Amino acid sequence: MASDLSPIDKAKFVAAKQASQYVEDGMKVGLGTGSTAAWLVRCLGERVQDEGLRFTGVPTSSRTAALAREVGIDVISLDEAKWLDLSIDGADEYDGNLNLIKGGGGALLQEKIVATASDQMVVIADASKSVETLGGFPLPLEVVPFGWQTTKVLVEETLVGMDVLGRKVTLRMNAEAPFYTDEGNHILDLHLNRIGNARQLSLVLNQIPGVVENGLFIDICDIVVIGHGDGRVEMRDINEGSINETRIEFVETDNLFADLGE
Ligand code: A5P
Repeated sequence: MASDLSPIDKAKFVAAKQASQYVEDGMKVGLGTGSTAAWLVRCLGERVQDEGLRFTGVPTSSRTAALAREVGIDVISLDEAKWLDLSIDGADEYDGNLNLIKGGGGALLQEKIVATASDQMVVIADASKSVETLGGFPLPLEVVPFGWQTTKVLVEETLVGMDVLGRKVTLRMNAEAPFYTDEGNHILDLHLNRIGNARQLSLVLNQIPGVVENGLFIDICDIVVIGHGDGRVEMRDINEGSINETRIEFVETDNLFADLGE
């Protein structure tokens, strides 16, 4: 029930609920990954059931695909969709220019491909994801398993010349074994503390052999929808330079709150 949710979950829910209103009949929509994006998928499933909303979703992970199908959303691949009207996803950090760190859930590669193939990217987040400077959250880096230890050394050496405060690099684990992404790759987490020049870092990291993609999303996000635990929602549009606010009332609907995952 809504009253049982923590303030942070309420914040994620109201951001997702508000962003679900951006989806219109006939759209092709990228569906993000993570706990906030899972709320979005549930809210969109509710609109499909209650309002007869008809759209197709392109999921950014096997987890999201499973949830989307479960709640009645038509799912297609990016190759079938080719180009999207909109993608909506969570983030681990966003700054004042709506540059992001993503990949805390390990889905950054599909998320970045899908967001880049969209006319518009909307990020949904609670206010704790807002930062002055990116880098407090460890930057995920997707690397191929072949020679990953050599890739890690190359990444560490590259970081020596970069404007960052920390340089520790760790292999993401899943209990005792290395974590595998949906694409069969590993994730290195870069503990940088502060990223002075995110655009430069993103370009340099992607030059290293073995690196598939990094979790910096530069100039990709158009709108951030920020939820608060009291139901307030703020929408910041970087292109229009506008900030709008609204409030979402919590309504105890069985189908949304009865079966909470993630
Ligand atoms: C998934 O790989 C990530 O990019 C998520 O979007 C990000 O970690 C946010 O997740 P939460 O919504 O669970 O905080």
